[in-house]
Amino acid sequence: MSSSPDTVAREVRRRRTFAIISHPDAGKSTMTEALALHARMISEAGAVHGKAGRKATVSDWMEMEKARGISVSSTALQFNYTPTGLGNDDPDDDVEAAYAGSAGERVDEPHVINLVDTPGHADFSEDTYRVLTAVDAAVMLIDAAKGLEPQTLKLFQVCRHRGIPVITVINKWDRPGQTPLELIDEISERIGLTPTPLYVPVGIAGDFRGLLDRRSGTYIKFSRTAGGAKIAPEELLDAQRAAATEGDAWTAAVEESELLSEMGQDHDQEMFLAGETSPMIFTSAMLNFGVRQLLEALVELAPAPAGRADVDGTVREVTDPFSAVVFKVQAGMDSSHRDRLAYMRIVSGEFERGMVVTHAQTGRPFATKYAQAVFGRDRSTVDTAYPGDVVGLVNATALAPGDTLYDGPRVEFPPIGSFAPEHFATLRARSAGKYKQFRKAMDQLESEGVVQVLRNNTRGDASPVLAAVGPMQFEVVTARMLAEFTVETDLEPLGYSLARRTDDTSSPELDRQRGVEVFTRTDGALLALFSDKWRLQFIEKEHPDLTLEPLVAAAD
Ligand code: G4P
Repeated sequence: MSSSPDTVAREVRRRRTFAIISHPDAGKSTMTEALALHARMISEAGAVHGKAGRKATVSDWMEMEKARGISVSSTALQFNYTPTGLGNDDPDDDVEAAYAGSAGERVDEPHVINLVDTPGHADFSEDTYRVLTAVDAAVMLIDAAKGLEPQTLKLFQVCRHRGIPVITVINKWDRPGQTPLELIDEISERIGLTPTPLYVPVGIAGDFRGLLDRRSGTYIKFSRTAGGAKIAPEELLDAQRAAATEGDAWTAAVEESELLSEMGQDHDQEMFLAGETSPMIFTSAMLNFGVRQLLEALVELAPAPAGRADVDGTVREVTDPFSAVVFKVQAGMDSSHRDRLAYMRIVSGEFERGMVVTHAQTGRPFATKYAQAVFGRDRSTVDTAYPGDVVGLVNATALAPGDTLYDGPRVEFPPIGSFAPEHFATLRARSAGKYKQFRKAMDQLESEGVVQVLRNNTRGDASPVLAAVGPMQFEVVTARMLAEFTVETDLEPLGYSLARRTDDTSSPELDRQRGVEVFTRTDGALLALFSDKWRLQFIEKEHPDLTLEPLVAAAD
């Protein structure tokens, strides 16, 4: 029996689903662990601190991952969080009072936080983007010394395009870095997002003493624990005691806070949800400083899961019968038995393991007996889930990214869309005798969304062109071709670096140009590939009548 809409509405109110977007080394793994510590999922941090320790814990679903010591898998971590007041287990009314007037909704039960993991490697893939279709908010994690870095920028653009509100976290404040105002300026100027710090750090980067809570004017003083393994105890001081304790560091923080207010950089919930401003927090994930404040911000400010428009624009409300969108498909995680996991994000209703739902794309029933939560190597069975939750479905051979599953009235959500590829290569089977398997494997990998496949008459089908957002997608293709289909392949990079969408009228002229080639993607889109942006600019200037549309990051 399914629960009532009231139960679903209550479950939705207490849920927050987010991803951390960052450049490698900004501290995403350390922060994930710190969040788990604060949620009391683990009792001590440090087990996975640092790359060396973590190597043993990453999934080993592919030899490639082992060789590189990275995890290609992207999964979701769910934890309950009850706002605790102060981190020294001595909840203080003042802190509660400071939050009471804020815009977010507080609920009595623990909050359920879903942290959807983005792949943590330097290379980029479409999976990284797809994850962002499954979240309601993003935490942009920035290294205090480095400021905005390329991968953070790319991911931020996707968030902006999709209208995902962003909370900014300046991490590693325990190490020397830029000043708060320098970082704020950089973010405003380079990406047009206005940071609205919720706290101002007391002590410069490298001398992290605590946080000035801008809403209450009080001081949260942190104490270090041995090796940063435990939740950092917090002491709450009023302004007078803070000034007496911290002297100039406190005065500087107060001045900074006043300056920010004068510049209009105070938190505004509507502007935040509209993607105009970004609440900012300063942390040291390593020392567990500011982590509670991040959780509080997520709970207080980040939006709860909301309904989603279907292909016709009708909104499936969260309290409607069950529906979900598949946002990632992953195969071969476990080498002992080849399985294929589809990750769905629940959009509406209650999910109960075992229910038979409908796969909108085929109209076929889909049994959900094997529903799992997956994080790294750990898998556990999921019996019930609600909107915002991520559930892994085992052996989901029929499911592809963007697919809809539903119960009750039919619904189909818009496709996730493919992303603008920047890397292109041809692939062919080394042995002609393997051509049949090669074709089959290519179809399979394409349907899973591992890579985009482009074809044209000149090149024929024996060596299709693979198009990817990041070159690691190619490695996944060749590794899986060999491991799962025993096809050895040769990959040859192509000298193209950007793609534009074109049409039948423009393609003959484009094909005549040097440094350009037109292809049909499997979804029917005509893509013109260019060697570089100068070539593109030249052709656009010479032939202003040609259709050359930029490919946006996501189609919906
Ligand atoms: P990532 O997942 O974003 O790639 O980053 P990760 O957490 O692996 O952190 C990258 C490095 O930065 C690690 O150091 C980690 O310990 C360190 N780090 C993360 N957060 C903080 C912080 O708040 N302060 C300081 N000072 N360092 C931080 P490493 O050299 O790879 O490992 P280790 O030698 O520290 O164990």
